[in-house]
Amino acid sequence: MYNFEFQVDTKVLFGKGQINNLGKEVSNYTNRVLLVYGGGSVKKNGIYDSVIEQLEENSIEYFELANVDPNPRIESVREGVDICKEHSIGGVLAIGGGSSIDCSKVISAGTLYDGDPWELVLDSSLIKESIPVFTVLTLAATGSEMNGNAVISNMSTNEKLGTRGKCLIPKVSILDPTYTFTVPKKHTAAGTADILSHTFENYFTNVNGGYLQARMAEAILKTCFYYGPIACEKPNDYEARANLMWASSWAINGLLSQGAANNWSVHAMEHELSAFYDVTHGEGLAVLTPHWMRYVLNERTVDKFVEYGINVWGIDSSKEKFDIANEAIDKTQEFFNKELNIPGNLRELGIDRENFDKMAQKAVKGKSIKGFVELKAEDVKKIYENAF
Ligand code: NZQ
Ligand code: ZN
Repeated sequence: MYNFEFQVDTKVLFGKGQINNLGKEVSNYTNRVLLVYGGGSVKKNGIYDSVIEQLEENSIEYFELANVDPNPRIESVREGVDICKEHSIGGVLAIGGGSSIDCSKVISAGTLYDGDPWELVLDSSLIKESIPVFTVLTLAATGSEMNGNAVISNMSTNEKLGTRGKCLIPKVSILDPTYTFTVPKKHTAAGTADILSHTFENYFTNVNGGYLQARMAEAILKTCFYYGPIACEKPNDYEARANLMWASSWAINGLLSQGAANNWSVHAMEHELSAFYDVTHGEGLAVLTPHWMRYVLNERTVDKFVEYGINVWGIDSSKEKFDIANEAIDKTQEFFNKELNIPGNLRELGIDRENFDKMAQKAVKGKSIKGFVELKAEDVKKIYENAF
């Protein structure tokens, strides 16, 4: 296990009715916020009204940035930064999923930055300070509510890039599982696939000795395999929504990655799908993951797949090791296709083969992805072809 530093400063208020603490928590930092939300789900389900009530009760002045797209755009970030600068705003309050939260994070840093905020996406070392970020989470998926990452798209250049900064970690996150009852099946499934993928990206590592991280990862995987389909079928199942929500936060806040680093191969490949075709992040991951697994399975990696097959899927350990590995990959694929009803190939996501070369080059950033198995552009292209 490598040495590491682990610090996550987010105060999580988890459970029904935690919104009642929002105003008090925000007013510890500021009395003027920018509210950031998406295309209107928070108005339909009443979460917006609960937030406004809290702000008004606590005399917190608010401005608004609405219509943040899934795969949030740099244009929204720029708009938010302009509002914050013009009105000397002291904090950004996201209401929504990863898109609203990520947009809020870059706005928070852009507010204290002199240049164009896209520079902060291209070069995270420029993110040195920000105004505080608060979140009211409405979708279990990205873990953005408890980490310092943000992913922003620039559709004019077909770029979807991640950036990060310690100061972007939300100060307070309200995690009320009932707020996810209205998430449609499609996004419940995609969110579950995203949590699974974050966990896989950490679990399939070459760094030995992270026994504890691996067992925690398996617990998160099992949680998603168990509760994902329940949440899709019974959207108001509190236990399912609560477990998925807490799994989302812990899959990508550093707990699993510390001491057992990896390079996030499937995310690098998926971000190109979204950058070129604006697909739903979790769906892209679900299509690519089993194909990535098959591609990287070899004599050197098979033992890790055996560990996965036995510990997560309960496959009979007396079987031959490649049989266990392949069965585990088949089960993973079946889960995405049959239990979560996510399309099984890239075509069904509306992707054609026209840009595979360009996307593969961009995914490896002209070099390679040095993950569990190093992938060059030609490998990525083959995985896209296999997933097509
Ligand atoms: O826009 P509205 O109307 O709010 O509808 C949203 C949106 O259409 C809807 N939704 C959210 N909560 C709802 C709801 N509908 C009904 N009831 C609710 N309670 O769901 C749709 C998707 O929302 P979005 O925020 O886009 O989803 P998600 O949380 O999956 O975020 C995806 C973005 O996060 C990035 C992705 O790449 C993508 O851009 N990621 C961020 C990460 C991070 N910050 O650490 C890591 C991830 O790997 C990921 O890359
Ligand atoms: Zn993800």
